[in-house]
Amino acid sequence: MDNNFIPLRIAGVGYSVPKTVITNDDLTKLYETSDEWIYTRTGIKERRVVSGNETAIDLGLEAAKKAIEKAGINLDEIDCIIAASSVPPQLYPTLACTLQAKLGIKNTIPAFDMTAACTGLIYALQVARGLIGTGIYKNILIVAADNNSKITDWTDRGTSILFGDGAGAMVVTASEDGIDDILSLEISSNGAIGQMIRTNMPSECCPLVEQADEVGTGKIIMDGKEVYKFAVTTVPKYVEHCIELSGMKAEDINYLIPHQANQRIIEAIQNRLNYSDEKVISNIKYYGNTSAASIPIALAEGVEQGKIKLGSTAILCGFGAGMTWGGAVVRLREGIC
Ligand code: UT7
Repeated sequence: MDNNFIPLRIAGVGYSVPKTVITNDDLTKLYETSDEWIYTRTGIKERRVVSGNETAIDLGLEAAKKAIEKAGINLDEIDCIIAASSVPPQLYPTLACTLQAKLGIKNTIPAFDMTAACTGLIYALQVARGLIGTGIYKNILIVAADNNSKITDWTDRGTSILFGDGAGAMVVTASEDGIDDILSLEISSNGAIGQMIRTNMPSECCPLVEQADEVGTGKIIMDGKEVYKFAVTTVPKYVEHCIELSGMKAEDINYLIPHQANQRIIEAIQNRLNYSDEKVISNIKYYGNTSAASIPIALAEGVEQGKIKLGSTAILCGFGAGMTWGGAVVRLREGIC
């Protein structure tokens, strides 16, 4: 790393999930399935979903307010907002711009969305790290929010059992004490295998030209088996690689905070690292897969529930549509949530 690179401090983290709970038993009203089938294959018992006019914007707003409060900064000190959402409620205005307005940020700071699906938080962290590291901005608000329930095909039992809604937020800032909270961070993608999980937006051609064969539905289409194979072959190795880059040993890192996609995938990473259950943060049982939001929710809720003690280190890892994946070894300072 360049000697002039400004180190980054993770200053605040927050999360928000909707109140409405859908259990596995509830899903038996939609199609033939069972709590036993879903739980043994995924580790999921229930998920939260938005209802009525509630969207990822509301969840993102609440998570952002908590992260800003923990960071102890004023709204006018925020230099940039990056929102990571797999499918935001509106493509434009972007989630980031909408949050800028709803937070009441008067400064005309840049605000933009970026899509890296379930790896969104790690991608956003890398972008923020570049912007802070080179001195362009000092304080960046990252919001990872998804309302998957609005883009789920509720007739497809292969996908709709998995997803849930939620948001997480992180304020990152130029580190004043010279200590970098990012010990390593790498992001990757392979578009050649990207079709295994996709959402085609509803669209049609100009009526004066030939129409497309397939009209997008805006719903998640997934080859679950292929995604599963990809995840268990790629992610555990990658996590080891990110740990190696940090210069630490796996046993010296306190927690694994993985993307919550499937308990069996989490266990594949856990086994590779030879971690005890106490070191692995899993809340998939209660929230399912909340896409970009799953890592910051697991982090902030883990602290809230006393599973994560601050003044520690953690390996964060995500993977998802794209295909994208990423990992970061981070320092979790006291007071961040
Ligand atoms: O952020 C990334 C997001 N995605 C993932 O991480 C997905 C990773 N993949 C998975 O988690 C698993 O592939 C699933 C949990 C989605 C599915 O498990 P699977 O063991 O791969 O099941 P399958 O799709 O191969 O289906 C096996 C059988 C099929 O029946 P037949 O054809 O063998 O008769 C399905 O029709 O299970 C049936 N099935 C179900 N049965 C009861 C599929 N979904 C259900 C269901 N309840 N909900």
